[in-house]
Amino acid sequence: MSGLRLAVLVSGSGTNLQSIIDATQSGKLKSQIVCVISNKEIAYGLERARLSHIPAYFIDPTKPQYDERLLAKLQEEQVDLIVLAGYLKIVAPSLIKAYRHRIINIHPSLLPKFGGKGYYGLRVHEAVIQAGEKISGATVHFVDEGVDTGEIIMQRSLEVTADDTPEILQTKILNQIEHSILVEAIQKLEQERVD
Ligand code: GRF
Repeated sequence: MSGLRLAVLVSGSGTNLQSIIDATQSGKLKSQIVCVISNKEIAYGLERARLSHIPAYFIDPTKPQYDERLLAKLQEEQVDLIVLAGYLKIVAPSLIKAYRHRIINIHPSLLPKFGGKGYYGLRVHEAVIQAGEKISGATVHFVDEGVDTGEIIMQRSLEVTADDTPEILQTKILNQIEHSILVEAIQKLEQERVD
């Protein structure tokens, strides 16, 4: 069995989560999602998990010891790999230490460009267009103590065209790149475990 026990962390709509769910159901991924965790009570990502009968948990960040409760849940579920898929919360150093090289994130730009504090959601694509970039894309990387600074696992680009608005660019990158490279990056890590 070369599959990994995945935890997917989300804060929002979870289209990237859906691409992982689909890939586990089609057999493209050998891994299984053992839980989906959100720091937002209302996140469509949680609903997507429930619809696929995957345990879905909301961990309330306004209550004490959020990081400890998150870590406890991940340990309880014996998670091998944590996938941040639109998780809009900084990961605590204690979690990074416990899961070094076992936490990955997807970011909608060609890192190191347009990454770091403040670059999330539409802001990334607004900045790309404002800077007059001719190409953009997405990056899957390991999570370290910095923001969007960890080792890059996979990256893919597309052309930014003159009529792209931030919204159009966001959709293009999500549909044409993110949903596939996130699955491919997990496949790569599955394979590395076998090797
Ligand atoms: C994606 O653009 C991802 O790169 C970023 O947050 C967005 C999440 O989208 N980290 P979704 O919730 O997976 O639809």
